[in-house]
Amino acid sequence: MLLGTQRINDDGIVEIGGCSAVDLARDYGTPLYVVDEQALRETCRGYRRAFEARYPNTHISFSSKVFTTMAICRVVEQEGLGVDVSSGGELYTALSAGVAPASIVMHGNNKSPQEMEMAVAAKVGRIGIDYLEEIDAVQRIAAAREATVDILIRVAPGVDADTHTHIQTGKVDTKFGLAIANGDAKEAVAAALRAPNLRLRGINCHIGSQIFDLHPFAEAAQMMVDFAAQLRAEVGFTVEDLDLGGGLGVRYLPGDAPPSLDEYAETVANAVKAACDRQKMPLPRLILEPGRSLIGEAGTTLYTIGVVKTIPGVRTYVAVDGGMSDNPRPALYGARYSALIANKAHLDPVTKVTVSGKHCETDTLIVDLEVPEPEPGDILAVQTTGAYNYSMASNYNRLSRPAAVLVSDGRAEVIVERESLEDLARLDRIPQRLRAAGREALS
Ligand SMILES: Cc1ncc(COP(=O)(O)O)c(C=O)c1O
Repeated sequence: MLLGTQRINDDGIVEIGGCSAVDLARDYGTPLYVVDEQALRETCRGYRRAFEARYPNTHISFSSKVFTTMAICRVVEQEGLGVDVSSGGELYTALSAGVAPASIVMHGNNKSPQEMEMAVAAKVGRIGIDYLEEIDAVQRIAAAREATVDILIRVAPGVDADTHTHIQTGKVDTKFGLAIANGDAKEAVAAALRAPNLRLRGINCHIGSQIFDLHPFAEAAQMMVDFAAQLRAEVGFTVEDLDLGGGLGVRYLPGDAPPSLDEYAETVANAVKAACDRQKMPLPRLILEPGRSLIGEAGTTLYTIGVVKTIPGVRTYVAVDGGMSDNPRPALYGARYSALIANKAHLDPVTKVTVSGKHCETDTLIVDLEVPEPEPGDILAVQTTGAYNYSMASNYNRLSRPAAVLVSDGRAEVIVERESLEDLARLDRIPQRLRAAGREALS
């Protein structure tokens, strides 16, 4: 499986954005996150085109949590997208990148007072309200600043998307948002309308992630419009913004066949238009917040293979120089990936291996990967790591978080530096009382 601008060159080496994976590994070290700029830009354009053709009043917002870095924010903003954030850190990153505050939507299911303050002070375009008490909290902050804040109310529409339970987020039983079914969402809307410094602009939902079946998107759109109609009839509020979140799936394995952007846009646009028609409602502005489907396939992680350990009759373990610290998703929810040996991409597979990391855990990255004969020093390219990899990385075992490079037209540029050993210990402090000399060294 080759994605985006990936190709195999005459030497049998994988190239991404015109850069040889072997050269990238040599020049920047491994593990290395590689972002295919052209693939990312094309997906941004694809999203815009797909909706402009079917529902012109659409705002596409990059869900920055999937790969929160300043350079990526710059690329998506250049492509005319907004950015959504869900913490003070993500907001800080987007603002530092120069993203226009008015094109930022601030989400978060448990925002701290500081985060709310930061969002109001920055004058972000919308704040998504996730729970009832947040209305008073944001109202107080807005009043103190004599500001008017545009808000959305996050709704749990009660849609079960067919994906891993950890990434189903639109059910009734969810920590996110206010349920339509038990009246919480309507109560929040009424409370927001009473708040003098808040301007309620609409409602938002997000039903889950890595969804291949289009039906739940249509169902959510319809339920949201039906709820909007109920609000108009019962509290006299007309929804201007209908934010349906993200959720579209991507290809992790060669057999994966997610819907195209056109199919997705067709489904969502038709569902919104049909429901508005049925409810005799004006068409709202549509907001979509793709994350994984915008950048997932544009990311590749390069590793260097170290130990190759064959247990006869059982399996061969191929250990790489990263693992659950740069990609926790397999350990977290059994996520599956495909990969190829980047310097042997022209050779046919001859064996099945289990790719594991270097952590003090059984941090399996890929089970039963078919590859040519693996050897220490080979470069393994794991596909589709552009979403929820860098942004979920940790320093477990005090591994440095990898660098990230943006590649395009044969040029590679660092967008995140590799952490140094000094970076790892930078925030450590030794209390004075622990400074006294301890035992002698082992003899
Ligand atoms: C509110 C909201 N919008 C958008 C997204 C992005 O979802 P995805 O990466 O599946 O497109 C998320 C993901 O958690 C989210 O919570």
